[in-house]
Amino acid sequence: MDKVRVGVIGIGWFGEMHVITYQGVVNAQVTAICTRTKSRLQEVADKFGIRKTYTDYNDMLADPDIDAVSICTHAPDHLEPMLAAIKSGKHILLEKPMALTVAECDKMMEAAKGAKQNIMVGHICRFENSYAMAKQQVDEGRIGDVLSIYARRNINGAFAVPHLDKLSSVTGDAVHDIDLMNWIIGKKVKSVYTMALNPRKLPNYDVGFVNLKYGEDTVAVAESLWSLPAKTPYAIDARMEILGTDGVIYINEAASPLVIDDKNGRSIGETVYWPSIHGNITGALHNELTYFIECIRDIKKPDIITLEESRYVIEVINAAEKSAETGEIVYL
Ligand SMILES: NC(=O)c1ccc[n+]([C@@H]2O[C@H](COP(=O)([O-])OP(=O)(O)OC[C@H]3O[C@@H](n4cnc5c(N)ncnc54)[C@H](O)[C@@H]3O)[C@@H](O)[C@H]2O)c1
Repeated sequence: MDKVRVGVIGIGWFGEMHVITYQGVVNAQVTAICTRTKSRLQEVADKFGIRKTYTDYNDMLADPDIDAVSICTHAPDHLEPMLAAIKSGKHILLEKPMALTVAECDKMMEAAKGAKQNIMVGHICRFENSYAMAKQQVDEGRIGDVLSIYARRNINGAFAVPHLDKLSSVTGDAVHDIDLMNWIIGKKVKSVYTMALNPRKLPNYDVGFVNLKYGEDTVAVAESLWSLPAKTPYAIDARMEILGTDGVIYINEAASPLVIDDKNGRSIGETVYWPSIHGNITGALHNELTYFIECIRDIKKPDIITLEESRYVIEVINAAEKSAETGEIVYL
């Protein structure tokens, strides 16, 4: 197969990040982009020399010269383009979270029944070296049975404001860690209790701690604060501790080897998810997009993250949101 021809739908911050990252994926070529705002469409098309531009994703999906799409609209706008893309038969990489509700996930799953193309949700952390290696060590029995996982994923509060119009820090970011916990622990969640604060009175809360019980004998906490000070040196302060009966694993993604002090103070280089090296994006996003493309070329269904797993994390996240709202433990 020649290069996979990709169309990217939704050119905000992360849609453009997909466009840039595909430039470094050897067997992919972005041939089309689609976004609602014409000036933005033209800006990104000119920047990357992309010839085909669309403001309506239905027109893009009707183009026979596109093999696959990345859907990078924001979470409240995932359902409609996803249903149209499933119908079109094109391979799909949908950004996380799959949707805001299980009901929307179920509509997608129903539409995808019997679909021949590959459909994958972009759970980027499964493609990040430390988390993927930790999963492997746990599966090999290196630390015994998992007793607990603590995870943190905190970001700059000012950067988070536009996202908090659409979702909470838990649905937006703890979704990464809870998916990792589901994957590493390998048991179903029995109960969820969320403590949440909204000190800035934004449309969604920005301080969230989700407490989870898996089966009878594993507990976990996912901390997601979208409220770090504007001058935080971290792009993403992400950490994880996995305690087992025979050992413990520590992950500190915030401990980047790249620390820069300049006239604006200290910043810590983001060397994990989408660092730019020699003109190409590397790191976890590159790994994820490469996997998506290589599965298409190998005519292989993606199994590092399945649609069922992507839906399940939304079931847990919806329970976490219900708990934040009611102040009660939610049993699944
Ligand atoms: N994997 C990660 O670590 C990671 C990081 C950031 C964002 N994301 C995900 O990426 C997605 C996009 O995030 P973002 O911050 O770029 O959002 P954004 O709101 O900045 O961009 C979304 C874009 O989609 C466009 N759009 C919306 N509806 C459309 C439609 N019907 N047709 C065409 N264009 C449409 C909007 O105009 C906007 O330009 C979200 O799902 C988010 O959760 C993932």
